[in-house]
Amino acid sequence: MFERLQKVMSKYGVASRRKCEEMITAGRVKVNGCTITEQGFKVDKEKDIIEVDGKILNSMDEKLYILLNKPAGYITSVKDQFGRPAVLDLLKGINTRVFPVGRLDYDTEGLLILTNDGDLTYMIAHPKHEINKTYRALIRGKVSHDDIISFKRGMSIEDYTTAPALLEIIRFSKENSVVDITLHEGKNRQVRKMCSEIGHEVIRLRRIRIGELSLGSLKTGEWRYLNKSEIEYLKKLGGC
Ligand code: URA
Repeated sequence: MFERLQKVMSKYGVASRRKCEEMITAGRVKVNGCTITEQGFKVDKEKDIIEVDGKILNSMDEKLYILLNKPAGYITSVKDQFGRPAVLDLLKGINTRVFPVGRLDYDTEGLLILTNDGDLTYMIAHPKHEINKTYRALIRGKVSHDDIISFKRGMSIEDYTTAPALLEIIRFSKENSVVDITLHEGKNRQVRKMCSEIGHEVIRLRRIRIGELSLGSLKTGEWRYLNKSEIEYLKKLGGC
């Protein structure tokens, strides 16, 4: 399949498409040994050999890193017994098999990373790295100082005690509050259970950050490739 050179480069995680165009114009890119400076040049990534600054981008080890703004009503596993829609259904045009890094509940929205880089998946998901994840939640009721302390101290849920977490009030009305919750653990439905423990039902839950990686302007249901510095940042976070 023929695609624009800058698109293929950005898929490989070289940089954003815009930056790749600049690299092409600057004469830093070769296709099959010839320097290409023309914008709109098309390549077949299965067959053509693309070099950037003398380094070959090899489709055999093509690693894809995707950031999806997950809508509610999608499962993060590949498929389930009830035939519900899966996040992979949202990745139109991706022929490579990618997997979610960690999971979000069926009814949770927001930032989800998907990749075929097994090392990164393992490292990011590993609890020893204590990577902060921030969730914006609409919860029933008003948050008290004691609630904030409970999050900070850790609380008993089922058979475990939660690690210290941050509960920040963003705004509130008579009935509801919008809060940001930051924790580094990722136990099953942990945010919902922690909120329920302090007497606040979660009405809407959206992950807005993993470390410093955020959704930016990505709309619900949209996805994009991570750029090179974001990939490097994630690798560093996971200690790869
Ligand atoms: N905590 C939850 O309760 N649900 C999620 O999807 C993620 C974190």
